[in-house]
This record gives sequence, C-alpha cells and structure tokens, in this order.
Amino acid sequence: MERIFSGVQPTGSLHLGNYLGAIRNWVRLQDDYECLFCVVDLHAVTVWQDPDVLKANTRHVAAAMLAAGIDPKKNIIFNQSQVPGHAELAWIFNCVARLGWLNRMTQFKEKAGKNKENASVGLYAYPNLMAADILLYKGTHVPVGEDQKQHLELARDIAQKFNNDFGVEYFPIVEPLIFGAATRVMSLRDGTSKMSKSDPSELSRISMTDDADAIAKKIRKAKTDPAALPASPKEFDDRPEAANLMGLYAALSDCEVEDVCKQFGGSEFSTFKQALADLAVEKLGPVQDEMRRLMADPAHVDGVLADGVARARAIAEPVLAEVHDIVGFLRPQGK
Ligand code: TYM
Repeated sequence: MERIFSGVQPTGSLHLGNYLGAIRNWVRLQDDYECLFCVVDLHAVTVWQDPDVLKANTRHVAAAMLAAGIDPKKNIIFNQSQVPGHAELAWIFNCVARLGWLNRMTQFKEKAGKNKENASVGLYAYPNLMAADILLYKGTHVPVGEDQKQHLELARDIAQKFNNDFGVEYFPIVEPLIFGAATRVMSLRDGTSKMSKSDPSELSRISMTDDADAIAKKIRKAKTDPAALPASPKEFDDRPEAANLMGLYAALSDCEVEDVCKQFGGSEFSTFKQALADLAVEKLGPVQDEMRRLMADPAHVDGVLADGVARARAIAEPVLAEVHDIVGFLRPQGK
C-alpha cells in the first residue's frame, strides 16, 4: 500500500518556500494517496523554542495546512509529540544509524554553524527522528522540497540496515517526491541561498502572514541584476535572482519556466516585479484569509489535531508492537 508522510516544523511563520515546495504539493497528492501530515514539534525543540510560542506556531502550521486545502477528514493532520511512537522508534534508529552517516549531513553543519560543540544532541540525531516519523507508519512516499533529499537518503539507509540486521523485509524503502517549479525557493536578497525561516533579514522571505503591501514591498526590493530578463532558462547561468523570481512566477501561475521566459524575456525587472507581486497577492490572499479565520478559532484547529493524533496512534501502535518483536523486546504478559 502506498502511504504518504510529510512534516513541517512549527518554528516561526511559514514562508513561500514551505508553501510552494511542500504544502501546496500535498494538496495535490491527497486524492491519490493515504496521507499523514505532521507538525513536527519534536524536531522544533532541537533548537530552543519559547513554550508559548511553540504552541502558537503548532496551531499556525496546522491552520496553514487546512487553509491550503488539505482535507482533515480524508488525511491525518497531527502534531508529532502526541504520538509517543515517534520518539520511541527514533531511539531504535539511533542504534541502527551509524555516526559516519550523520557526520555527512549538511543540514546539521549549516544549522550548528561554527560552534558545533554547543549544538544539542537532538539536532545531531534529527535525521533519525525524521526516518522514524515516516517509518512508524510504513510511509512509502515523502513529498518535500529539495533541501530534505539527503535526510530521505538516510531514511532509506536506515530502513535497509534495519531490514538487513534483523533479516526481515519490514520497512519500505521510501521514495522522495520532489516536484513542481519551486523545489528550492531562494532568498529574495541572495539568489544563491535558500529562502529560510532562520535568515535574519525579513526581506529575504515572503511569509504566509505578510499582507499585500508587505508582499509587494519585498518583491520590489528583491535583488536583481542590471540586464533585461532572459528569454530562455538557458540564460539563467550566473543570474540566480532572475532564475528564482521567474521560477516563482512559474510556480504561482502553474506554468513552465520556459513560458515565463517567453512572456517576459527582454522586459525590465520593474515591470516583471509588479506582475509577480500582483500574482503572489492574488494566489496567496485566499489562503492567508482562511489562515486568519482559522487562527481566530483555535478550538477548531485543536479539534482537528486531536482527531489526527488518535488516528495516527491507531496506525503506529501495531507497527511499534511488531518492531518490538523484531528487535527482541520482551513484552511480558502479567497475570
Ligand atoms: P521544514 O519545516 O524546514 O520545511 C517544511 C517543508 O518545506 C520545504 N522547504 C522548501 N521548499 C522549497 N524551497 C525552500 N526554500 C524551502 N524551505 C523549506 C522543505 O523541504 C519541507 O518539505 N525536516 C523537515 C520536517 C520533517 C519531515 C519529516 C519531512 C520532519 N520529519 C518526515 C518529511 C518527512 C523540515 O525541517 O522541514
């Protein structure tokens, strides 16, 4: 059976990369797969989070999923910490994964920065928890942005090693689903670095909570180069900002980058930026309105999460019981 698992961290407000690279694709997959979409709060605490802000952000991410069009009846929307199996399976995977594998993870190096000694142990073991997230439900397909590719390769290695070590064909080898025109949305201030929640510059990203004026201002101020817009993606070499902005236009208007190049090739950036800002406001506006409506009704969002938690636990518990048997954990039967 094919089952999708994917997740978003409740750290800061979601940005256009999260929406176009992940959540919007999930909406499109929900008719073809059984899906679990998770607010990964255990991952969030690998770096310090203010407890009240974490709770608010958890609701914010759940509201974004609903506002984007994920149907909570058909799919399971829940927060990770409330299904204890994630942490439990992650421990077993801590004992399956090798130090050498984790040492190769580029995201740890980026996030830990220069002061590696001071990073939490959780940040280091983060990819093992991510493998546990997916495999706790025997997930087969994982729709993510480009930046998660290496973590998913690790999840494949963990599943393979677990199966080999115990001589079983138990865990599936997960398939990444990385598709669409926005698998890697770049910063508006620097076309060579990823749009990210941790960038200190607010101008680098469009947040899902930005109003129309803020969106237009950020696009107007986006870094560009002095030449006219390229007429073909072949001219994107050495023009990362043009590539990023034209890729965003393609993703938002659901067309190919080639078509955007045909339409705007030779134009000035100022004309194009105005068109991009109008398009972004038109496409994001309805999602943002719905998010605001949902954020004003936290009881509804909590109800969706509680229902998701119960349904996720029901899938996870038998898997964990089988894993206990495979690993050799005695489950003593009392009198
Ligand atoms: P997170 O919270 O950083 O990002 C959530 C999703 O958004 C995608 N994304 C982007 N896509 C395109 N361009 C960008 N600039 C951009 N920035 C982020 C991410 O690829 C991701 O799909 N480790 C994960 C969360 C996670 C997870 C999982 C994902 C935990 N367990 C299991 C899949 C399966 C993360 O930090 O995502």
